[in-house]
Order: sequence, then structure tokens, then C-alpha cells
Amino acid sequence: MTRECNVTTLDNYNAIGRSYSTRRRPDPRLAVRLDALIGYDSTVLNVGAGTGSYEPLRSGVVAVEPSTIMLSQRLPSAAPAVRAVAEALPFQDRAFDVVLAILTVHHWNDQRRGLEECARVARERVVILTWDPDADGFWLVRDYFPEILDIDRRIFPPIELFTAALGPIDVQPLPIPGDCVDGFLGAYWQRPEAYLDEEVRAGISTFSRLASIDRQLECLQRDLTSGDWERRNAELRHRADLDLGYRLVTAERRCAELPNEHCS
Ligand SMILES: C[S@@+](CC[C@H](N)C(=O)[O-])C[C@H]1O[C@@H](n2cnc3c(N)ncnc32)[C@H](O)[C@@H]1O
Repeated sequence: MTRECNVTTLDNYNAIGRSYSTRRRPDPRLAVRLDALIGYDSTVLNVGAGTGSYEPLRSGVVAVEPSTIMLSQRLPSAAPAVRAVAEALPFQDRAFDVVLAILTVHHWNDQRRGLEECARVARERVVILTWDPDADGFWLVRDYFPEILDIDRRIFPPIELFTAALGPIDVQPLPIPGDCVDGFLGAYWQRPEAYLDEEVRAGISTFSRLASIDRQLECLQRDLTSGDWERRNAELRHRADLDLGYRLVTAERRCAELPNEHCS
């Protein structure tokens, strides 16, 4: 079910989101980490929900998403969705136990305003999955697409912005499994050939921001064929997961409302 609300800004997901649901499926290992923070009986608002990855499948869950293309790919069994933006959440203060925002804040036009809105409608906790722009880039962006690293460092919010908008926060690394099934930018760090696949790249929004990618892809293809990639990245083959800079940011709302000595 989708309810229409006033949407002033539409992200480019209307243009790039058409094949999103085929490549962007929740990874079970990441889902376990998120579920532990969301809780099993809380009411939840999923902001920038897209097709509904990591959204609890139960009553008391509502999604907010501005893109009609993304909304159209939500399954009938998914939570009811409201077409709206993070910067103007059409809900009362403290309307949900938990507010969730997964790999979406970097798309918001006014990140601070959107985060403040998340804090406003959360009674217990705000849970965010993001990427830390202070993190080192992994081999794809370091050796082949430095322009993606530049873009991501510009668009992903610095960790200090979360503190400024949400108050005290906890920040935990979220290492990415080598066979991650959720096809975001870092998901294929152990499967370099995947980035040569147009369909894989179609699920990764940053590629759509680049004017041309042929030369970089040729370079990757050449290094894979010659064995240069393997020689440079041999140690990656033995790892189960890798810290690529993805972070789980949690803000306890009750904590923000109490004097400091009650929060550790
Ligand atoms: C990378 S997708 C993530 C979707 C989903 N959270 C997931 O993990 O699969 C980013 C989403 O943020 C949405 N978005 C863009 N601008 C937004 C805004 N201002 N407010 C809320 N969502 C927004 C996009 O339409 C898109 O669905």
C-alpha cells in the first residue's frame, strides 16, 4: 500500500532504480547486525526505504520513500509506504520506537534537516547504516575509480554531522562479507570480475554519476587477465570479511533527553 504525500525533491533513483530489486537484496549477515539494533517488537519507520531491504516483516512498520520507481518494486508483503522525503517526515513527534535509515542519508538534499527529522519522530533509537568519508577507499576506488572516492567523500556525511543532528551516538564498523548478496559499491570487494558486469553496476548509484567509465573498466579487465590484480590483492582472497568503512550509527533518543550522567 502506498500513501501519497507532498514530495518536493526527487532523487535520481527514478532514473537509476529500475533494476534495483534484482541486485539489492538484504544480506543475511548484515541483517542480523541490524535486527539486533532494531529489536524484535518495536514500531519502525524506515526512511529512504527503497524496495524494503532490511525492513522488519511485521506490523508496526512504515516506509518512507520519494521515488515512484523504487516504490513500484516493493513487494505486496512489504510494509505500507508513504511517498515523502526525510527532510519533511509526515509524522508526529516520537511516533515510532525506532527510525531506520540504510545507505540513504548521502542522497538527501538537506542531510542535517533529515537527521533532525529522524530524531524528532523516534521515541527510542535512530539506526543508520552509512559510509565514513574518513575511511580509506578499497582497491576499486583507490586503483581504478578515484573519482568515485572523491564523490563519495563529498556526499557521505561526516560522522560529526550525526552527532550534531542526533546528539550522543555509538558508531560500530560493519565489515562486509566476501560473498555479500546486497550489491552496493563495496559488496564485490572479493569478486573483482563483478564490477565489469553492467547489471551489477546498475545497482550502484555512484556509477551513474560518472561521465565515462570505459577506460577504467578496460584497465580492470586488463589487470584481471594479466594477473596484476591478483598479485596486488592476494591477501584479500583469504579473508571472510573486510572493513570498507561502512558504519552502523546508533543514537539513543532517551539518552539525548536525559542529563549526561545517565548515559554511558
Ligand atoms: C541506496 S538506496 C537505499 C534503499 C534501501 N534503504 C536499501 O538499503 O536498499 C537510497 C534510497 O534513498 C532514497 N532517497 C533519496 N533521497 C531521499 C530523501 N531526500 N529522503 C528519503 N529518501 C531518499 C532513494 O530514492 C533510494 O531509494
